Amino acid sequence: MSTTEHELLVERTEALDEVDLADLCEATDAAIIEGGGFGWVEPQGREALARHFRGVLLVPAIELFIARLDGVPVGSAQLIRPPRNNEAQAFSAQLTHAYVAPYARGHGLARLMVHRVEERAAALGHRVLNLDVRETQNTAIALFEGLGYTRWGTHPAYARVRGRTVAGHYYFKLLEPTRGRALDLRAGA
Ligand SMILES: CC(C)(COP(=O)(O)OP(=O)(O)OC[C@H]1O[C@@H](n2cnc3c(N)ncnc32)[C@H](O)[C@@H]1OP(=O)(O)O)[C@@H](O)C(=O)NCCC(=O)NCCS
Repeated sequence: MSTTEHELLVERTEALDEVDLADLCEATDAAIIEGGGFGWVEPQGREALARHFRGVLLVPAIELFIARLDGVPVGSAQLIRPPRNNEAQAFSAQLTHAYVAPYARGHGLARLMVHRVEERAAALGHRVLNLDVRETQNTAIALFEGLGYTRWGTHPAYARVRGRTVAGHYYFKLLEPTRGRALDLRAGA
């Protein structure tokens, strides 16, 4: 971990200006080239990624979180909320597409990003956060397990990466309600 002082910031974003969007696209392609692990396999280029992020910002069920190192976007994560017709699972949400560019790693930004997503999910009334990750993403696995996520299963055919089938691990974490009484989330309760 770096000993230099840096300004770390993670914020939920509803709009991105062109400079931030360009930095975010660069960070995303850098993370893909280094090994991905959050969906993309091949670098997409600035135009395609810019279209992707503009589209994400239009989807009501997705909240986009941007990680900044010294003010510059270097990573992101998405909180996906269940559709309105899924009442039975309205208490859960999904953390997905989390990454930090290789040049900004080791400063604690991913940890902060996961905390911010958890806080937001809890504030929206969700009590369970689900996520899944390729079994090859050792750093991400250490991060999520260190933050209290429980692995409940492994999908043997989770992803295809460069012609190879890769397994993936599934995790959940129970979130503390931000106000009101705690729910009993044990099965059957
Ligand atoms: C996983 C990832 C987001 C971590 O980003 P980061 O900003 O460097 O992480 P942080 O600095 O917040 O570190 C958080 C924890 O991750 C783990 N970690 C970070 N760097 C590590 C390293 N080089 N080796 C082992 N563990 C490491 C540690 O558990 C660390 O906790 P600690 O600081 O208490 O030791 C980043 O490596 C990444 O983008 N990987 C590729 C994409 C990916 O796998 N995404 C997850 C799938 S959704």
